[in-house]
Amino acid sequence: MMIANLNPKKALALLSVTFVLQATAQNNAQLVINGLAPKTTISRNIYGHFAEHLGRCIYDGFWVSDTSSLQKKDRIRLDVVEALKKIKVPNLRWPGGCFADEYHWRDGIGTRSERPKMVNTNWGNVTEDNSFGTHEFLELCSLIGCEPYISGNVGSGTVEEMSKWIEYLNFDGLSPLSTLRKENGREKPWNVTFFGIGNESWGCGGNMTPEFYSDQFRRYSTYARNYPNAKLKRIATGPNSGDYNWTEVLMKNVGNRMWGLSLHYYTIPSGSWNAKGSAIQFDEKEYFATMKNCMKMEELVTRHSTVMDKYDPERKVALVVDEWGIWTDVEKGTNPAFLYQQNSLRDALIAGINLNIFNNHAERVKAANLAQVVNVLQSIVLTRGNDMLLTPTYHVFDMYKVHQDAKLLPIQINSPDYVVGDQKLAAVNVSASQDSTGAVHISLVNMDANNSVTIRTAINNINWKTVEGQMLTSAKFTDINTFENKNVVVPTVFKGAKKEGNDLVIVLPKLSVVVLELK
Ligand code: AHR
Repeated sequence: MMIANLNPKKALALLSVTFVLQATAQNNAQLVINGLAPKTTISRNIYGHFAEHLGRCIYDGFWVSDTSSLQKKDRIRLDVVEALKKIKVPNLRWPGGCFADEYHWRDGIGTRSERPKMVNTNWGNVTEDNSFGTHEFLELCSLIGCEPYISGNVGSGTVEEMSKWIEYLNFDGLSPLSTLRKENGREKPWNVTFFGIGNESWGCGGNMTPEFYSDQFRRYSTYARNYPNAKLKRIATGPNSGDYNWTEVLMKNVGNRMWGLSLHYYTIPSGSWNAKGSAIQFDEKEYFATMKNCMKMEELVTRHSTVMDKYDPERKVALVVDEWGIWTDVEKGTNPAFLYQQNSLRDALIAGINLNIFNNHAERVKAANLAQVVNVLQSIVLTRGNDMLLTPTYHVFDMYKVHQDAKLLPIQINSPDYVVGDQKLAAVNVSASQDSTGAVHISLVNMDANNSVTIRTAINNINWKTVEGQMLTSAKFTDINTFENKNVVVPTVFKGAKKEGNDLVIVLPKLSVVVLELK
């Protein structure tokens, strides 16, 4: 059972109602949606993405050769840009990841042929030619229509280097750095606001202790200046999944000097980094284990928020889940350091569940970034030469975009269990919101691989007449979109919802993600 966004008294009252309501049949669920004066906004930035200099994400994914016959602006491929525009990507994180703490921004500006090369030691020791740098990334963001989120180098960079990067990005007056920017073809500052002070400083970003990193954050962020029209949202390296001590120390020692604290958590099917599990071949036992590991996000967000509440009861510091998603073994025959994996219906369910979790915690979770946008980990787009495809995960972001900047509606769900062997999980996962026109959107995931669930929904304090919906499902949880058949897992019109009196009754098929619109 999950209760979200209700004060304990209300939750108890509603719970008692639903316990009475609890159906006899195993596949019935009860949902209550509370429309009374919703106050929390679901930040559109929860729907962010991440692009690292890793494998074929930047090179091939966005940035192609200048002789490529693809439609492009400079060397940015426009087919991928169009796909990202359609789902209203709100922000894009760059240049890493681990790469960020070895990246020296000055190597990526100026005449391309003169830019120094470097070895990308984190990701396969490939040579990075720095042809895609600050100007190219910010041009990409402007084409997509999204906000940039830049991660600065704390691990191997200096305070001065970070400080000067921000001056180069954001200063409109006369200075050596703004002059250099103009010489490189950009007159006006970009006014970047999302800025990461390092990445995974507990690991690839410097192997620091939380105490040491707290001091580093204070030092680096002092010189990460605000310029007019560019008040920085400084994001601190946060915990590695369940490291609550890291959160405690950062909140105590840094507190509201940071705009946000990041959280990284990946769903590993097997739970082991050594043999993670295949992206495309798995049985129900492994599917169940993956969903169980996915649901850990609920616990992580809840428990880190509780630690943060202790120091920041007004919830001013954001929890920024700036790396999340499923991480499997790479596809056979691909470079193990390039992290290229296929994307199945299972991944779409994982996306739907995580986005529901973030929505329901919108008071604390104010931004998130799926790892990674093209050709790496849980991608929404895969490319092969001039070809590209949209993954099942892409379609979930498309369906869920209606939640962006809408008001969160508190929900309470009493779900049947999805049982495999002697283990069980709540089968149904939900979030709901109301947009500025008054339309209500409900996103639901049924992770049960065998049973549909009938959900009787009480919608309190909202008048509505019609219901429409879209559904993403397929016959098997292993189903994928391929370059040969791109439309195996695509959204269809959902006809399984109807109004009965004041209630909404939904028949949610097994293995499905559904988004409903009530007007
Ligand atoms: O997303 C891949 C890597 O995972 C990132 O570079 C790093 O931050 C994390 O460990």
